[in-house]
Amino acid sequence: MKQLYDNVYEFTHPLIQHKITMLRDKNTGTNEFRSLVDELGMLMGYEALSDLQTEDVEVETPIEKCMSPVIAGRKLAVVPILRAGLGLVSGILALVPTAKVGHIGMYRDEETHEPHEYYCKLPSPIEERVILVTDPMLATGGSAVDAIDLIKARGGKKIKFICIIGAPEGVKKLHEAHPDVEVYIGHLDRQLNENAYICPGLGDAGDRIFGTK
Ligand code: PRP
Ligand code: URA
Repeated sequence: MKQLYDNVYEFTHPLIQHKITMLRDKNTGTNEFRSLVDELGMLMGYEALSDLQTEDVEVETPIEKCMSPVIAGRKLAVVPILRAGLGLVSGILALVPTAKVGHIGMYRDEETHEPHEYYCKLPSPIEERVILVTDPMLATGGSAVDAIDLIKARGGKKIKFICIIGAPEGVKKLHEAHPDVEVYIGHLDRQLNENAYICPGLGDAGDRIFGTK
């Protein structure tokens, strides 16, 4: 992993980069796109959760009893930003099946590119959980900043954010608004275009995951 700012990391693992290249390809169909996002959720989640707390439990091996660590997993909440963030959830739940799942609904206005919230439901007690917010795309950063504002307003404290592709503008905005949040980026792209789409990016992540448009 490469550190971009304090608390902001870009993945360098070749498997992650390979899968992102396949996602970018405009000829990758919905089925394959969904599977790749799912696999990236697992690979990126694995790294982002490397500091999850463990607790020792007693286990009896065929040889003897010993104390051995397990994940204190009930403390994790995965919170996708709808819609596209949903695509990353199942890969993370494959790693931590006991995690709870919250949802934040946000859409970007097509003209202003400003985010609008339409739904928020978080598992309680949110203040005691590690919260992993997921969204494949960090473009202007508006959606991520507002989603994390909402989580903090409801008591969330230990927050991580993962995305597949980030634009420099959005990464900076998110880091400046929430320097305490750990941000994990699959690949940092070049820039935003005049429609606030990431270049080269992968197009509209929600449409490609759900087969809309
Ligand atoms: C996309 C994406 C992010 C947001 C990123 O969602 O999934 O949530 O845009 O852009 P930003 O960083 O400029 O806020 P969109 O609003 O298209 O909604 P969708 O997931 O329902 O398609
Ligand atoms: N949302 C997307 O889905 N893609 C982009 O490039 C920017 C925002």
